[in-house]
Amino acid sequence: MDETHTIWIEKYRPARLVDIVGQDEIVERLSSYVKSGNLPHLLFTGSAGVGKTTAAVTLAHEFFGESWRMNFRELNASDERGIDVVRNQIKEFARTRPAGEAAFKILFLDEADALTTDAQAALRRTMESYAKTCRFILSCNYSSKIIDPIQSRCAIYRFRPLAPQAVKEEIARIAAKEDLTVTPDAMEAMVYIAQGDMRKAINALQGAAIISPTIEAQMVYAITSNARPDEIEDLLKLALAGDFDGAESLLAHLLHERGIAPNELINQCYRAIVKRGMNRALKVELIDALGETDFRLSEGAGSDIQMEALIARFVLASTKKR
Ligand SMILES: Nc1ncnc2c1ncn2[C@@H]1O[C@H](COP(=O)(O)OP(=O)(O)OP(=O)(O)O)[C@@H](O)[C@H]1O
Ligand SMILES: [Mg+2]
Repeated sequence: MDETHTIWIEKYRPARLVDIVGQDEIVERLSSYVKSGNLPHLLFTGSAGVGKTTAAVTLAHEFFGESWRMNFRELNASDERGIDVVRNQIKEFARTRPAGEAAFKILFLDEADALTTDAQAALRRTMESYAKTCRFILSCNYSSKIIDPIQSRCAIYRFRPLAPQAVKEEIARIAAKEDLTVTPDAMEAMVYIAQGDMRKAINALQGAAIISPTIEAQMVYAITSNARPDEIEDLLKLALAGDFDGAESLLAHLLHERGIAPNELINQCYRAIVKRGMNRALKVELIDALGETDFRLSEGAGSDIQMEALIARFVLASTKKR
């Protein structure tokens, strides 16, 4: 593959547990399993791009060394070929003996929360039947969707969204390897668009690097189809000053010329309003309006009219006597 076409989230995926940033406590606890040579079943929960798959793969590297490929298998529970395929593959892998010196194999089951309750019950029996030869690492976004009998058989690890410092550290590492200059504003922009998701930050860096080796903030916003925080600020200022025409034309610009997705815009407005110092009652009303629009869009309502209606509600809320 041409060098410029390698995906950086793969190229720079941490190779060792200690290379994982921002999840120190988890890394420490996982490392202690390697030292002791013992591993319980694990349940990893947390939002996207925070290091769950990475932790499972690096853990397998450290347990098995050279033979990791034979003793580690990654499966996705939401495999489109159906749960029976997954179930057969799990059994097939779990029941055979580990290769080489390994005491057990590791099966990593991604998106375990996609399994129905019945499928989870069957999985629980499989986990028990093959516990001697196979340890399971289940990964999911919400642990509440995993049945209690499985939760109680696993050590649970909650991966938090990555802190700004962790995102910066990793981005700086990759930028140095790729000979890129990242301005401080661009670094802040990547933290802003990532919202704790390292995959988003790295993809933004790679996207911007195609444009220029000097990464600037506006490139980051442009390629990720995010509005700049100052544009969101302008939109709110206009709407809250009761200037419907002004707010409407900025909204149209963001949606149609800049190509920012309506739900992305809602999300950005939400983040700006939560942070903003303003009249409590007004804040409540604005957030209520955002929630309503978000829901209507998810139900398939027309986005242009809903977004304009949102601005109209902001204007109305701002002109109300309080
Ligand atoms: N804590 C971290 N330290 C360093 N890099 C990370 C970290 N988390 C994620 N990354 C980077 O982001 C990419 C995606 O991470 P990973 O696949 O581990 O996410 P995940 O938590 O499994 O997400 P999903 O829920 O979407 O499966 C990795 O290849 C790696 O480059
Ligand atoms: Mg994953």
